[in-house]
Amino acid sequence: SQPRARVAAVGRAELHLHIEGTLEPELLFELAARNEVLEKIPYKSLDEVRAAYNFQNLQSFLDLYYAGCAVLITEQDFYDMTWAYLERAAADKVVHTEIFFDPQTHTSRGVPFATAFQGITKALKDAEAKLSISSHIIMCFLRHLGSESAMATLQEALPYKEQIKGVGLDSSELGFPPSLFQEVFQLAAKEGFKLVAHAGEEGPAEYVWEAVNLLKVDRIDHGVKSIEDASLCAHLSKAQTPLTVCPLSNVKLSFVTALPDEQLVEKLQVLLRQGMCITINSDDPAYFGGYVNANYVFLAQSLGLDAETLYQLHRNSFIASFLSDDVRDKYL
Ligand code: HPA
Ligand code: ZN
Repeated sequence: SQPRARVAAVGRAELHLHIEGTLEPELLFELAARNEVLEKIPYKSLDEVRAAYNFQNLQSFLDLYYAGCAVLITEQDFYDMTWAYLERAAADKVVHTEIFFDPQTHTSRGVPFATAFQGITKALKDAEAKLSISSHIIMCFLRHLGSESAMATLQEALPYKEQIKGVGLDSSELGFPPSLFQEVFQLAAKEGFKLVAHAGEEGPAEYVWEAVNLLKVDRIDHGVKSIEDASLCAHLSKAQTPLTVCPLSNVKLSFVTALPDEQLVEKLQVLLRQGMCITINSDDPAYFGGYVNANYVFLAQSLGLDAETLYQLHRNSFIASFLSDDVRDKYL
């Protein structure tokens, strides 16, 4: 059909992807061996890793995600991880990607900001030339480390400002509401960064309101708990504030399966019909069992989406992106 052909010809953008969440178990072991830090990872074999990736909630995932980062030490490590993601993204028809990176996860272990940043940006630059993938970097603050640490991280990043498109907020959500980070986001806005925040992943719809009203974000990451608040949904639809939804992540972390499937399908369809700007993304594909194409396939099959709706989700990925208007229009 026509929409299908258009999707195949144009490709898609990915807007919610933690680069540290693309570290595949094979590369994890390779880097652990290369850096002689095998004792720092809590696994002896690939089978043990796979068995461990069975999460009860957000925190049980985060514990392993941060533990895995211990093998990332040199600039080359960050380059190799990022390059591996970009090759998979290219295979999934991603033509533009906006990736998250968590500087505090590395600086807190004594790895300099510049080491992580340069490894990632060199791979992104190579992908522009060799894979025809354009990209932006969004630097995320770890909410569990609090607002002072976030502020210090923002200051540390200012010399790299020209190469960082936006700032975001991730890590443990419950107990760390967006309101704590108001001052940090105000300064980030003043410095010209785009603003996003994880909200309504595990936390309540109220956190989505806070991200919108207090942090004044351009996009909400996840935001699926908005479903529980009809006036919030109406607001997000009207304002066309995009949600970067990650279906396989939600399933793996059991938020979605907490709802009966039929109810979830029904609610997501209501959101789509309301004209909300929903996008589909992979979050931490090495941990959640699939890159972005697998997320589209899963959603399409579980919701029985028609070709027209799938096409709209692809269009949304560009509409919600931070591409300049002239570049974005080429994809619409
Ligand atoms: N939620 C919060 N923090 C994260 C995630 C997530 O899905 N992935 C990596 N850090
Ligand atoms: Zn995320």
